[in-house]
Amino acid sequence: MTRIATQRTPAALETSGAAAVRRDIVAGLTRAQKSLPCSYFYDARGSALFEEICLQPEYYPTRVETAILVAHAPEIAARTAPGSILVELGSGSSRKTELLLEALPALAAYAPIDVSASALDEACTRLAARFPALRLLPTVGDFTDPLALPAALAKRPRLGFFPGSTIGNFAPDEACALLGSLARTLGAGSRLVVGVDLVKDPGHLVAAYNDAAGVTALFNLNLLVRLNREMGATFEVARFAHSAVYNEHEQRIEMYLVSLDDQSVEITGRDIRFAKGERIHTENSYKYTVAQFQALASRAGWHGHQVWTDPDNLFSVHELGPA
Ligand code: AVJ
Repeated sequence: MTRIATQRTPAALETSGAAAVRRDIVAGLTRAQKSLPCSYFYDARGSALFEEICLQPEYYPTRVETAILVAHAPEIAARTAPGSILVELGSGSSRKTELLLEALPALAAYAPIDVSASALDEACTRLAARFPALRLLPTVGDFTDPLALPAALAKRPRLGFFPGSTIGNFAPDEACALLGSLARTLGAGSRLVVGVDLVKDPGHLVAAYNDAAGVTALFNLNLLVRLNREMGATFEVARFAHSAVYNEHEQRIEMYLVSLDDQSVEITGRDIRFAKGERIHTENSYKYTVAQFQALASRAGWHGHQVWTDPDNLFSVHELGPA
């Protein structure tokens, strides 16, 4: 169980759940359709590469969502009671969170959750300097594990923050289950601000995951670098290539690592065979229409109170709450 840490530093928690992650990885690589968990992208280098992706001209989600939050943070803040706790899932650099923190009344605490200890450490150091009165309760962990807040904070109103379209990493049924369990852990009366990438012209989507500078390719290939370092795997990274395609039927970007040769790789004493052209599925990034996401949220027990989009309808931010 992931607990929101009050005493241990993020770095001290880094290895929790590591054995389960390793089992998942080996299981994924030994299936007919080879796959890796997308949460494994975010080691220190992967988290830094993701920040660089967010700056690429083709990767519109970060810029557009930031503009939506700049415009509407005051409205979100106006509905937030002083003394609330802000809980963020997959907080990464917490850059967008600063827009909320500037606007919100005095909070009891900010509780960011992320799989990357380095990203959490950097974010908390920066936030501590910028918001010295803010109580920080970072947790290193997978936000799909059960969450718990310190008992002393149990009675506080909660505002959940789940930006970036991270929800898009989950298939709709899983996304619905996650939103449902969040409703339960955040508790009655809580609200949730969630960023959701929108369905659009496939060319626009494909470009966002195939930036010309090749940063997304490095981000994808870094999975193999990490497997070599942390699991003693023998991937020859130059013999794999990045691929990102749009699956219109599933409404999702699919990322793969494609084997450029017939080859075999060793990991934890197992021999993994690759045919030339065989792919490891590394990520899904689902896209929704506003109506589709509202229907999903209501299936999960949330009421859509507000939804904001940009003038080009590229991205949406939903404020969900009790019915
Ligand atoms: C952080 C999951 C929202 O799906 O757009 C960016 C990750 N992958 N480029 C996304 C990602 C490739 C990103 N999310």
